[in-house]
Amino acid sequence: MEKRYYSYQMIHRLAQSIAGNVKKSGFEPDVIVAIGSGGFIPARILRTYLKKPILAVGIAYYDIDDRPMDYPRKVQWIEEAEKQLSGKRILLVDEVDDSRVTLEYCTTELLTYRPAALAVAVLHNKQKEKRGAFPQGVSHVFVGEELGDVWIVYPWDALDIDAHDAHAEQGGNIAL
Ligand code: G4P
Ligand code: MG
Repeated sequence: MEKRYYSYQMIHRLAQSIAGNVKKSGFEPDVIVAIGSGGFIPARILRTYLKKPILAVGIAYYDIDDRPMDYPRKVQWIEEAEKQLSGKRILLVDEVDDSRVTLEYCTTELLTYRPAALAVAVLHNKQKEKRGAFPQGVSHVFVGEELGDVWIVYPWDALDIDAHDAHAEQGGNIAL
């Protein structure tokens, strides 16, 4: 599978362009909800532009004994989520919309808290057949960049960040 390397610089620019599109859309979030762990850094950069607090949730495909599961489960969730999120406009953030299963799970859970509005932001959407779907209550999906079914290599996974950046400069460049 083709690999695409992204530097922190490229990620930051993508987040800036997402924030610009959020502002243009008229969707004004009260709170950012980051899906860990891939959504943590994108959510933090979005906060720089949108200036809203971040709550974090953890979702995993592995149980506590590291055994794989068929579907995502909560490993960490917002305390008193109902109280904090009901009536709020939520921007849910993750790094990539791949199968959409995690995003379907998280949006469906958040909608049970009766937010005033719910939108999703991802750095990357892979244009492929999706196993999950966004429920009716999701008003906007903001995408930094549309991709095919490639493997995205994020800078926070790099063991050697300088070698990673060299790859990103060679092939991973994108016009914004
Ligand atoms: P989705 O609903 O957002 O589409 O996510 P999905 O459950 O399909 O994704 C399963 C895991 O695979 C997620 O990580 C997701 O970030 C990761 N993933 C999917 N495609 C890529 C890719 O091209 N590159 C990288 N680096 N990761 C990808 P996770 O289990 O949530 O782990 P975490 O890394 O976010 O902690
Ligand atoms: Mg993830």
